[in-house]
Amino acid sequence: MSHVLLCAGASVAIYKSCDLASKLTQAGHAVRTVLTPTAARLIDPQLFEAITGEPAASTEFGVERRGPMDHIDLARWADIVVVAPCSADLAGRIAGGLAGDLVTTSLLALEPGVPRLLCPAMNSVMFAQPAVARNLAQLVGDGWTVVEPDEGHMACGEAGLGRLAEPTEIAERVEALLGG
Ligand SMILES: Cc1cc2nc3c(=O)[nH]c(=O)nc-3n(C[C@H](O)[C@H](O)[C@H](O)COP(=O)(O)O)c2cc1C
Repeated sequence: MSHVLLCAGASVAIYKSCDLASKLTQAGHAVRTVLTPTAARLIDPQLFEAITGEPAASTEFGVERRGPMDHIDLARWADIVVVAPCSADLAGRIAGGLAGDLVTTSLLALEPGVPRLLCPAMNSVMFAQPAVARNLAQLVGDGWTVVEPDEGHMACGEAGLGRLAEPTEIAERVEALLGG
């Protein structure tokens, strides 16, 4: 049993991270979820709490606060981190070392040895942008494993490369990084 910190950005593909949270929980892992504030406008953290039986939050201020410094506690708690879905904006913020919300602050507080997976999800034109490629290359250089998106239908009505990888594949990558 491992501690999985699941971080979710504001992509329509966030519905798939509910399935991922369920799969990881059923595999016996403790899964705590952190959503960006924008992601929490798409889906309520409470749903992740119901799926995982563990805390989920989008801020460490106010009523969602769990302790004196949630970002440090979450970072210390995590055996592995999965960012799924990772929006273009979130990838840029992580690559840039920004820490303006609970997701990015927790990621910045991670010890160097903690394995970290990042699963981009976005429109194919967005994914093909040099700026996005630059940010993802930076993240790989910084020790992130990037799970390539799939090709196919997207919610915007287009088809192309940018669909979030399937939860089964992401869960397998988590197990592989945990050495399972
Ligand atoms: C319904 C909806 C779906 C979206 N899907 C995506 C997406 O799949 N990928 C992406 O990069 N941005 C997407 N966006 C735009 C992001 O939500 C926006 O860039 C946001 O600021 C990213 O927030 P985050 O960095 O906290 O994830 C979407 C916006 C909306 C309203």
